[in-house]
Amino acid sequence: MSQPADAPTQKTAQKTEPHDAVEVIAAKRDRHELTDSQIDWVVDAFTRGAVADEQMSALAMAVLLNGMGRREISRWTAAMIASGERLDFSGLSRPTADKHSTGGVGDKITLPLAPLVAACGVAVPQLSGRGLGHTGGTLDKLEAIPGWRAALSNDEMLAQLEDVGAVVCAAGSGLAPADKKLYALRDVTGTVEAIPLIASSIMSKKIAEGTGALVLDVKVGTGAFMKTREDAEELARTMVDLGTDAGVRTVALLTEMSTPLGLTAGNALEVRESVEVLAGGGPRDVVDLTLALAREMLAAAGREDVDPADALADGRAMDVWRRMIAAQGGDPSAELPVARHTHEVRADADGVLTRLDAMAVGLAAWRLGAGRARAGESVQAGAGVELRAKPGDAVRSGDVLAVLHTDTPERFDRALAALEGGWDVAPAGAASSPGVAPAVDVVLDRIG
Ligand code: URA
Repeated sequence: MSQPADAPTQKTAQKTEPHDAVEVIAAKRDRHELTDSQIDWVVDAFTRGAVADEQMSALAMAVLLNGMGRREISRWTAAMIASGERLDFSGLSRPTADKHSTGGVGDKITLPLAPLVAACGVAVPQLSGRGLGHTGGTLDKLEAIPGWRAALSNDEMLAQLEDVGAVVCAAGSGLAPADKKLYALRDVTGTVEAIPLIASSIMSKKIAEGTGALVLDVKVGTGAFMKTREDAEELARTMVDLGTDAGVRTVALLTEMSTPLGLTAGNALEVRESVEVLAGGGPRDVVDLTLALAREMLAAAGREDVDPADALADGRAMDVWRRMIAAQGGDPSAELPVARHTHEVRADADGVLTRLDAMAVGLAAWRLGAGRARAGESVQAGAGVELRAKPGDAVRSGDVLAVLHTDTPERFDRALAALEGGWDVAPAGAASSPGVAPAVDVVLDRIG
């Protein structure tokens, strides 16, 4: 059947667009800088479906291979922010500061950090995600607490920020929807690793969230996204520049992620360890990193006069934690879930534990049921790995190095396979030999 003369054909509809996708892809493929107009258009057109998934995938691969300059990344980030809503905390009675971690094994720092910073007079709006793969998600950890709910409306979030001072909740679908769509494509096209795309993805959500100050915890090591110091530095600088250009006071810490943080990886296990930190105990690396990030957040929010160590020691941070959990329906006094089965992993030699690989522990925790393979799967609250030794500790043959926890014991074999080759024990006399791990400071550098 022929079309009426005035019906818009596909060709005329396309003509109304200021650019076309092939032109933009070819420009990046040929190592040209994209113009502001090309960037604005391609992000917007992709969000409304006028640029096809396969075209955006090709562009993402061209960006991965050929990079982007500072102006391009900044414009790309602004275009992703413009694809959705922006929150506004300017009406709050105190300044705001947020923290973002690029993700690591045993990284439960948000849990003690948010109430600690709030206890020092700076409000913390933490919009978090769920875990996928070997690093756990903050929401999964908090959902181990009976009754706690992650979903809050914007009004509920604002009210809790004013009243309690800290909120950790799920990011609504209204923030940077272009990023959500693009991240799903990157995930299945081998383009997650592009630094301009990682930086713009993280920063578009944080800038849209409306925080006044932002501290980035950029992890480096075997258990991190960024395996080398050089890549971690480039990502950190790119994100600090993006935040600064957008008027958000932004600094980054490069932190160690070759070995897990603390002694636990897994949801309820990590909540328990976080509560120990809030009670004035907990592993040294978790306490050190919590305090280092808290100092940066307070300074960025103009409160460098406050020492967060005091609020940890005198119980004020614990009080805020209990109020923060209760405000979202959780019972801070409830018993945490415990896995039904455990399995001990023992040392087979005397000596010093010189290496405990973060990726091996993260994979083991994941395979025990602490994480999910596909978005939407449920996780086991009690599953995970409890470490009994860290690098630098003396061990004897037969000592328990780690305890594996799961509700489904058929998972033990695959978890043990993940841990195989994941640690080294060297003879005690070799403590000063090359290859024997010295005690490592968790904070490696500061950028910003
Ligand atoms: N986290 C994000 O939010 N985006 C990325 O691209 C990578 C990690």
